[in-house]
Amino acid sequence: MINAVANWKLNGSASFCHDWFDEFNENFHGDRSAVAIAPPAIYIPLCNELKQSNLNICAQNLDFSNETARTGEISLEMLTDMNCSMSIIGHSERRNIFGETSETIKNKLDKVARHTFTSIYCIGESLAEYDSGKSLEAIKNQLDNELLALNTNIKLYIAYEPIWAIGSGKLPSTQEIESMHGFIKETLSLSAKIKLLGIFYGGSVSEENSQELSKSELIDGVLVGGASLNGKSFAKIASSFDKV
Ligand code: 13P
Repeated sequence: MINAVANWKLNGSASFCHDWFDEFNENFHGDRSAVAIAPPAIYIPLCNELKQSNLNICAQNLDFSNETARTGEISLEMLTDMNCSMSIIGHSERRNIFGETSETIKNKLDKVARHTFTSIYCIGESLAEYDSGKSLEAIKNQLDNELLALNTNIKLYIAYEPIWAIGSGKLPSTQEIESMHGFIKETLSLSAKIKLLGIFYGGSVSEENSQELSKSELIDGVLVGGASLNGKSFAKIASSFDKV
């Protein structure tokens, strides 16, 4: 079971990867199979070389199509070929900057469901939805139009990432996160096709707050952006969730 995921977003370089793994390896002494690193796709082979033992290397995105005239995309088959069998799907930055629709995200989940591949499916409400008390409704809509609209069986992780908490230093209270995670679990328990491997929280996770988040029974892990760029900080965050 994975419980700490680093999303490097559009950060990194070959030398960054070397330095990062040096720092992480020096500071993390837990179960590496519970940790995943999502570098920009071009660095996946290098990270696979640098990682120790069974740490997971994750893509930040993948294409769903079997067509080949799709310049700039990377397929599930190509990722698998490069020893990567996991991807983030539906990150709010993909939705908001790159215009990914619920239909696209559903197609990506469908593609993953038909292969031996693990997804970390991201959902989260906007600040306007949060401020107007519509968080549950927003999450329910995403689940209904994406995950629950699939016709296939799927095993996956979900990351609850309120958009307003990403990169802002602001987090919902632990209670708010717990009640959302409870709601997601309850909503998905009605579908026999979905096997939830765990629910992560994402948005301004840091060395300082990861300890408290890890104490909650309803928070199975974290998806970390900014604080994951420092190998030592991420090692500390991952250590908070290390249950060994
Ligand atoms: P931050 O940890 O920088 O808020 O980013 C969260 C995120 O988007 C992870 O996918």
